[in-house]
Amino acid sequence: MTLGNNEKKMLSAMRTKTNHIWSLDELLEFTGWKDQVHVAGSGKALMEEGFVEIIETKEKIISLGSEGNNAVKNGLLELRLWNWIILQKDSNRTMKGLFEAGFERYEAGPGIGLLKSLGVSIDAGIFVFENENQITSLIEERTEFINKLSGEKINSEQLDNQMIEHFSGRKLLINIEEYISREWGLTEKGIKINESKLEEVELIGEITPEFLQKEGWEKARYKEFDINADAPIPMGGRPHPMQSLIERIRSVFLEMGFSEIEGDYVQSAGWNMDALFIPQSHPARTMQDTFYLEQPEKIDIPDEMLDLWASVHENGHDTGSLGWGSKFDKEESKKGLLRTHTTVNTVKYIAENPDNPSRVFGIGRVFRQETIDRTHLPEFHQIEGIIHEPNASLPMLISTLKTFYSKMGYPDVRVRPAYFPYTEPSVEVEVYWRGKWLELGGAGIFRPEVTEPLGSEWPVCAWGMGLERLAMLVLELDDIRELYQPDLERLSRMPIL
Ligand code: PHE
Repeated sequence: MTLGNNEKKMLSAMRTKTNHIWSLDELLEFTGWKDQVHVAGSGKALMEEGFVEIIETKEKIISLGSEGNNAVKNGLLELRLWNWIILQKDSNRTMKGLFEAGFERYEAGPGIGLLKSLGVSIDAGIFVFENENQITSLIEERTEFINKLSGEKINSEQLDNQMIEHFSGRKLLINIEEYISREWGLTEKGIKINESKLEEVELIGEITPEFLQKEGWEKARYKEFDINADAPIPMGGRPHPMQSLIERIRSVFLEMGFSEIEGDYVQSAGWNMDALFIPQSHPARTMQDTFYLEQPEKIDIPDEMLDLWASVHENGHDTGSLGWGSKFDKEESKKGLLRTHTTVNTVKYIAENPDNPSRVFGIGRVFRQETIDRTHLPEFHQIEGIIHEPNASLPMLISTLKTFYSKMGYPDVRVRPAYFPYTEPSVEVEVYWRGKWLELGGAGIFRPEVTEPLGSEWPVCAWGMGLERLAMLVLELDDIRELYQPDLERLSRMPIL
């Protein structure tokens, strides 16, 4: 009988240890093959000839989803509800009581469902139950299960099956990754066969033009296609979730009539800060907060601009302001740095177009010396924009931001008073999400100390918002670092925005 050369090689390798079950790694090592495809293909062919058996094991690896992580931190929803219920007097165990205790409306629906499945019912508006201990211990088991998974990936064999089944039906609590692993062993026939009787032929697996141009292709033996063979499911290409979010923001602003602007990462302290009337002694300017550059150490700024900023900072020039009163250092202005906000782009845009009404936005990377943690990165993005026109006003600014966030899917927006050296009034923009107001950025009307030196006579609505904050909201993440981890498995599971 004949066997392909690869099959023969694998069979010979396996016959060096007849009663052994071979792993992929062992077979790769013994055959010298680099690619597991050869082992899989030859193994299958040998199985079809009856020489080899393939042992398949399915593995499920369980880890926590984003809600699972929340549950480890704050407790499972049913645990929080149950803890509240058992502490109340009977008559206070009502929906109204729940909300008063701070539970959110979005938690109520799923929460009641969970309680019902645990044996709690609602009788005349009051939560009632019979077997308190049984409910408590079931919730304890669930909590234990979730806590065990904290920070770990665990094989389903080491976990309770019923719990896996329960949690897999709940949103984002656990992730299940399935793997199939294969091992190969000789059959009786594979052990007994007389290898010298096996004729080796080269089976052609890939047909190339070069091969067909040579002699002998008519007589060659070809490997059969096995259309039933397992093949890895290709993970289709998709944009990174951050990229699709940026695209979405872009289309929302374009739709609202804005044009897009861009700028360089490398800027001077003058344009990044002095133009914005940020005092030269401001703490955010220090080396701890700003990345100053060795190259270029200095960046040229026209003298007229420096003279104007100096006079605005020192005495207010003729903007109606008193300025900061201290001596302005022009050399400080020339220092090169990595921009700390994208407001530098909009300010430069006004300086270049002082007499043209404009509505522009930009989405760009900014840099600050931050220690990396759950909510901070030293590089992040801002969504910046301005409305520069004769009747720009605070109400116009607020309604523009509201429109933007509603188009993004977050209709509840509010502003609170804030402070920035370059705007008056200044506001902080917040969006309501899952029971909390989240701060997403700053905005305001540029002060005359900013606009007049740039040659503008109109008010400017300006804002700068954090993109990653918005992304965490949209993707339901609670750790900013998750956005940039090159974890393909995880990225492929993130929703398409
Ligand atoms: N530049 C501010 C920041 O980085 C945001 C801002 C932009 C505030 C424009 C007011 C006006 O947080």
